[in-house]
Order: sequence, then C-alpha cells, then structure tokens
Amino acid sequence: MNYRHIYHAGNFADVVKHCVLTLLLQKLHEKEKAFSIIDTHAGIGIYDLQSQQASKTNEAQEGILKLLLSSQDKSFFEHYLKVIQNQKTGFYPGSPLISRAFLRPQDRLWLSELHPEDFQNLAQLFYKDPQVKVFHQDGYNSLKALLPPKEKRGLILIDPPFEERNEFKMLVNGLQESYRRFATGIYMIWFPIKDLKPIKEFYAALKELEIPKILTVEFLRKPPITPESLNGTGLIIVNPPWKIQEKIVPTLEMLLKIFEFKEGYVRLEWLCEES
Ligand SMILES: C[S@@+](CC[C@H](N)C(=O)[O-])C[C@H]1O[C@@H](n2cnc3c(N)ncnc32)[C@H](O)[C@@H]1O
Repeated sequence: MNYRHIYHAGNFADVVKHCVLTLLLQKLHEKEKAFSIIDTHAGIGIYDLQSQQASKTNEAQEGILKLLLSSQDKSFFEHYLKVIQNQKTGFYPGSPLISRAFLRPQDRLWLSELHPEDFQNLAQLFYKDPQVKVFHQDGYNSLKALLPPKEKRGLILIDPPFEERNEFKMLVNGLQESYRRFATGIYMIWFPIKDLKPIKEFYAALKELEIPKILTVEFLRKPPITPESLNGTGLIIVNPPWKIQEKIVPTLEMLLKIFEFKEGYVRLEWLCEES
C-alpha cells in the first residue's frame, strides 16, 4: 500500500469529486428520513496543504487554491466552500469530513481505511463521535458487512487509489455484490481518466450488470490523448437523485472556467437508464 492521499489532496480531481459529493448530500437533506453514508476508502479525513508531502506535488495549486482565490461567481460551491472554511487555515477536508458536515442527528457515517497509519489518524479525528464509526478494513469487505443499512436510505462512496491493476474489475464486482444487497442506495464511484481503453471496458462491464440507472460523469482538463497522464476524472453515479444532472453540469462547467482548463470539457451520459 504505497498510495498516500496527502500528495493529491485538493487537486482538481479531488475538488470535482467533493463538489459532486456535496450535491448528492444536499439532495439527501430533502427528506427528513434518516440516511447512512458509507465511505469505503476514506483516507485520513483532513490534509495539511502546507505539509512537506503536499508541497512536494503542489497539486492543490491547480485545484482548491485556485477555487478559493477565484473572483468568479462561486455560488455553485457555497455548501462545499462552507465546509472548507470551517477547517483550520491551510487544511483541506477529505470526504469523511465533508460527509460529516451533512449529518443530521438521525444520520450515520461509516468509514473504512486499510492503511494502518491512515486508519489511526482517521480514528483519532472521529474519536468519541457517536455518529461516526471507523473501521480498519478493506473497503469492499466493508460493503459486504454493512449493506443494507437499516435506514434503507444511503449514499455509498467508493474512492479507491487505483494501485491494483484490476481495480476496475474490483469495482464492478463490488458494485454488483452491493447492489444485490441494497438496490435503492445511491452509489458514487471515482476513477481516473488516463488510458481510455480500460474505461471503455469498465463501462461495458457495468452495462452488463443490468442496473437500471447509471450515470457517467466525465471532467476532462484536456483532450485525453496522453494515456499515461491524468487527463481527467470520472464518476459513476448509480441511482442518481432526480435531475441531479442540472446541478452537476453548471457546477463542473464553472470549475473548468475557474481552473482555466481551456481545452477541457464536461460530459454526462446515461450508461443505463430506466425507460
Ligand atoms: C483516494 S484515497 C481516499 C480519499 C478520500 N475518499 C477523500 O475523498 O478524501 C484512497 C484511500 O484508500 C486507502 N485504501 C487503499 N486500499 C484500500 C482498501 N482495500 N480498503 C480501504 N481503504 C483502502 C488508501 O490508504 C487511501 O487512503
């Protein structure tokens, strides 16, 4: 396990993922009924952007720092920026803290992190928080253990580091198994857009699952002609809330503008759509 998210925290892909996560969380607030959130690959929860590791890559410069400094209209990011502004200056919140900010007293958050040190940090962050449980466990195994949640309402974030060669296959298997247990949950899966071939195969494999509602979200910072570099970032959303596309598209298009990705584009497509 070599991947450490501190080197990438707050980069453009993190911001895209967290903005969409925030939009999904806002949708969950539309009903009083309790929900639970499962974050299978949680990381450490909070990242010091001035640390040696983060400074080494400086990826936040092209991501969150650009958004914070932008003079463009930032109303699309109101809820997301509120979570960031609630942290100590210079610290970037990961998905666990973003989700935590949206819990109401009736809601719960389950986090899994496999890296021993990262798990310790995460557990410390939520020490004695009665609404959050932190597991030192493989994220895919946690899905088997935790689904379905008793609330029967929930959001599952699957955000692996893509260190494993067969991560796309693991995602397909994990989703198949999870959907069998909890077909009404909202699932959000993150993936990098580098080489397009494995992505095409990933989409084809997802289609074969015959899950009725799967939306693909692609955010490209440049045309994907260099398969070895991170040209963009993708999300799979299973059971997307009604009309969420109308929120995602303008938010991500504004991010393209703010990041000054002049050749970039946003593409949303139904992989499977219930007729
Ligand atoms: C991309 S980072 C997570 C970022 C986090 N979701 C966020 O948005 O702030 C992926 C994390 O998964 C952890 N990890 C790697 N393999 C894992 C596994 N099999 N199960 C759970 N966590 C794992 C890594 O240690 C790393 O912290």
